[in-house]
Amino acid sequence: MEKLKDDQLEAFDTEYVHDQRWAPIARCIDRDFADRPFTFLDIGGGNGIFADRVLAHYPNARGVVLDNAQMLLDRNKPQERKRVVLGSAEDLATCCPGEHFDLIFFNWVLHHLVDGSSFSNTRRYVDQALHGAKGLLASGGRISIFENMYNGLVLDGLPGWLVYQLTSAKAIAGLVRRGGANTAGAGVCFRSRRQWEEVFTGCGLQILDYTDDKKWKIPLAYHVFLHIGNLRCGHLWLA
Ligand SMILES: C[S@@+](CC[C@H](N)C(=O)[O-])C[C@H]1O[C@@H](n2cnc3c(N)ncnc32)[C@H](O)[C@@H]1O
Repeated sequence: MEKLKDDQLEAFDTEYVHDQRWAPIARCIDRDFADRPFTFLDIGGGNGIFADRVLAHYPNARGVVLDNAQMLLDRNKPQERKRVVLGSAEDLATCCPGEHFDLIFFNWVLHHLVDGSSFSNTRRYVDQALHGAKGLLASGGRISIFENMYNGLVLDGLPGWLVYQLTSAKAIAGLVRRGGANTAGAGVCFRSRRQWEEVFTGCGLQILDYTDDKKWKIPLAYHVFLHIGNLRCGHLWLA
């Protein structure tokens, strides 16, 4: 699997979970864990800003931030209840041997788990990561996922396929990067809401809760050339 270069990772030294996106997570945690202490694993947690927010909100929580980019892990603020682990989402069993977590987050990381040379192999890495996460869940545990939902105009899955083709094509990586895709050359695979849900239920996970934000305002060219009907960010809470 293609790893992003440090200059491509620089764009991820940010935080995408603003207050509006935090609300459904807090609601689900409050409902399913009430006031009891819980442990969490933030897969692709990078600079740890999201983990710090969870820890600040829940003083009884402890967490691990896992990422395959040392550069982003190095940007974590030290926190007594937080640990950072260098590891890969598709190889979770070896990252945290013997550990179990009440809650596992995948915030905008699953679309990075691609095989840059074959679209049909791409799903394999996502399934591997989800099965790995299931193996690390404590009894009664939950998986929380943020992903972008690329819903097609007519053909539901076409935008995700087109974005994959554009971002994984090495010959046009410079051009695609100038067009705004920092993952050019490595590849990303977004899916429609229906496709993401099929991936999760196909791995034996149950969808307990789904929320999304408003349709994003995107340029007309995205609708025309990428066949996007609507694009939004969705949050799934799974058992
Ligand atoms: C779009 S960023 C999201 C960062 C963070 N989760 C957030 O919401 O702000 C994707 C993150 O996934 C990490 N990542 C990409 N592929 C990974 C893999 N195979 N294993 C672990 N982390 C990965 C990247 O290094 C990056 O930190």
